[in-house]
Amino acid sequence: MRAPARRPRVRSAALAAASALLLGLAAAPTAGAAADGHHRPATLHELAREHGRYFGSAVDNPELTDTAYADLLGREFGTTTPGNGMKWYATEPQRGDFDFTAGDEIVDYARAHHLKVRGHTLLWHSQLPDWLTSGTWTAAELRAILRNHITQVVKHYRGKVFAWDVANEIMNEDGTYRENIFYTTLGPGYIADALRWARAADPTVKLYLNDYNVDGLGAKSDAYYALIKRLKADRVPIDGFGLQGHLALQYGFPAGVEENLRRFAGLGLDVAFTELDIRMILPADATKLAEQADWYGRITEACLAVRRCVGITLWGYSDRHSWIPAVFPEEGAALPWDEELRHKPAYDAIRSALSGG
Ligand code: XIL
Repeated sequence: MRAPARRPRVRSAALAAASALLLGLAAAPTAGAAADGHHRPATLHELAREHGRYFGSAVDNPELTDTAYADLLGREFGTTTPGNGMKWYATEPQRGDFDFTAGDEIVDYARAHHLKVRGHTLLWHSQLPDWLTSGTWTAAELRAILRNHITQVVKHYRGKVFAWDVANEIMNEDGTYRENIFYTTLGPGYIADALRWARAADPTVKLYLNDYNVDGLGAKSDAYYALIKRLKADRVPIDGFGLQGHLALQYGFPAGVEENLRRFAGLGLDVAFTELDIRMILPADATKLAEQADWYGRITEACLAVRRCVGITLWGYSDRHSWIPAVFPEEGAALPWDEELRHKPAYDAIRSALSGG
């Protein structure tokens, strides 16, 4: 499949600045002027901010001890997402016994580096604590557990995260609801309930649904479109739709990404790439790295083309720390920086897309 020709784009700096302000993104030093007065290239986040967007990277707690990695992340990006630190197993390891140590560590790191934090995630079928998955719960019990979890976690991070992935991966590939513990015990109404409880606990944080394989048009993203339309009609609080963006070269570039972003934006939502990485079958070679670069550029351009696409988060920025090799054997090299923290062609492609093609 060939990449469509890239269109040059002209943007209003004033509009971009205004929406950056609305996003509440932290002020960073002016591009090109380092603290010592010497010229340095603008960071990806600084370039994104010119368009009123953010550019972020996830970080997992153990990675914070890799100071070269953590420092570069803190300089280059404007937002971060805890890779694991705010998941249910981490935040409520025993019933009613909350532990915010890992999440707080990320929030403290983010504050020290002037990064905003995306909260991830209040509800997911994976990485749940044993007490929750091994228990047998009546609907009333599980409802109370879910409500308390969302309330406590959202209250704790009020003012510290700008968005929450309220529900993660709640659909199957064919667009039916995933039969997670919440669905099977509570029925599909748990999604609206979760959103309402999150809103009650923090009236201003942006509330997202988030999933993979919804970057382009298809049965799964159709199902989200129908669901969110219904939620909106029912006045359920929802602010955004997160496209994880876990792509793989061997499956082809998703069809209709920009059109997909646009239709969700048309529902009055923000959209964002929340966990972008583009893996390949190893070993990497120049051809694959060039194709990966092209894909990173196209995702960036698709986001810039849709006003309500507020930003892009990489799921880690370097092949040094990536979840891919552990989960997809024989695959990897998914990120724009290599294991030595050197730029790959993908970095240049993102940069060029952010600089106007
Ligand atoms: C991954 C983490 O990066 C890993 O460290 C962990 O072992 C498993 O989860 N979709 C999501 C993320 O929403 O939470 C997942 O993160 C990657 C897939």
